[in-house]
Amino acid sequence: IVSVLKVALILLRLLKTLHGLIIFRSTNSIMVFVNYGGGGYWFFQHAPWNGLMVADLVMPWFVFIIGTSVVLAISSMQRRGVTRLQLLRKITWRTAVLMMLGFCFLNYSPRDGPLSWSWLRIPGVLQRLGFTYFVLSLLQTFWGQTEIPERAVSTSVKNSAHDICLYWPQWLVIIVLEMLWLCITLLMPVPDCPTGYLGAGGIGDGGRYPNCTGGAAGYIDRWMFGDNMYRYPTCKGLYRTVQPFDPEGVLGTINSVVMGFLGMQVSWIIYFSSVSTSAAVLSKCTRDEGFIPVNKNLWSLSYVLCMGSFSFLLLGVMYFIIDVKGWWGGQPFLYPGTNSILVYVGHSLLGFYFPFSWEMHFQESHWEPLLQNLWGTALWVLIAYLLYRKRFFLKI
Ligand SMILES: *[C@@H]1O[C@H](CO)[C@@H](O)[C@H](O)[C@H]1NC(C)=O
Repeated sequence: IVSVLKVALILLRLLKTLHGLIIFRSTNSIMVFVNYGGGGYWFFQHAPWNGLMVADLVMPWFVFIIGTSVVLAISSMQRRGVTRLQLLRKITWRTAVLMMLGFCFLNYSPRDGPLSWSWLRIPGVLQRLGFTYFVLSLLQTFWGQTEIPERAVSTSVKNSAHDICLYWPQWLVIIVLEMLWLCITLLMPVPDCPTGYLGAGGIGDGGRYPNCTGGAAGYIDRWMFGDNMYRYPTCKGLYRTVQPFDPEGVLGTINSVVMGFLGMQVSWIIYFSSVSTSAAVLSKCTRDEGFIPVNKNLWSLSYVLCMGSFSFLLLGVMYFIIDVKGWWGGQPFLYPGTNSILVYVGHSLLGFYFPFSWEMHFQESHWEPLLQNLWGTALWVLIAYLLYRKRFFLKI
């Protein structure tokens, strides 16, 4: 235990010297790989409803590291004397660009017939990342510390309590947001559905609530966006649901902000232990039986806490390997990370065309999809490497 604590202590110097932001970078390549299909293996897919599979791990890591980056980037700009107004302009512009890019991802494929507005998907991954970035940046701009205090990188309960005092307006905002999520999710009446329903609907729960997919979260999105939301939710196959459901919906975005907020914290080990304990209690360490099951579709609180503890662990391990020990420089994941938006948009738009992809002939085995997905991912890493060599970085 003592040596674990020692290692942890080293890890805790985290924010002061962290310059690699390696998770951000490797997450990008993993995301490309799982989006390509992860070799067709079941564990690389998303869980149909409750539960965790590899594809469910990626986006929250990304959101977490957005939180970390926001603190590093904005506090350094504040130290250089950039004013709040200038910061606000920059933050708003970036958010707007991310959202506009997000709207380019439609529910559409050429097989669907003529293109029309009805294929527009209003919520989405980039929209959620953009909004999360926006809120976290505001928190940092108005209530963040410019100097990251030495004592904040410590293990004791007293110091992490001190953190909370130091950043109390941020905590207040986050607590209010989380209360809002809990109240709406658990207490809002939804017509023809049980209050606080967290299931997938369809033939789940004995087929009693076929149109209740996602409970309050699904209801709010359908009310706000109608059909302009995701139409192929992961529960559709297994639960035979008919309602559209968007895994990047409005309600879940609240918890995405909370996830990013965890990435802004420095008292690593206290948060790691409390966050993982709360996740265990909320989910009762089961898939379906907990108070609030771990669920990527809803971005449920237990999912956020569980992924938060993974993120603290991963960031700590990466920090130790890369920054403290210098055993590894983060290659080749470094490269896609320097052009993450380009790679993300690129693989989403071009991903299924030659040479990234080809028509498969051997349906019955995994080796061809695996080869193809690895190939597609490797090509994007290569493209990112070449751009890095040319010092071309798409910044927004
Ligand atoms: C569920 O919705 C579908 C179409 O949206 C409708 O046809 C069906 O009657 C609804 N079922 C129930 C039980 O309300």
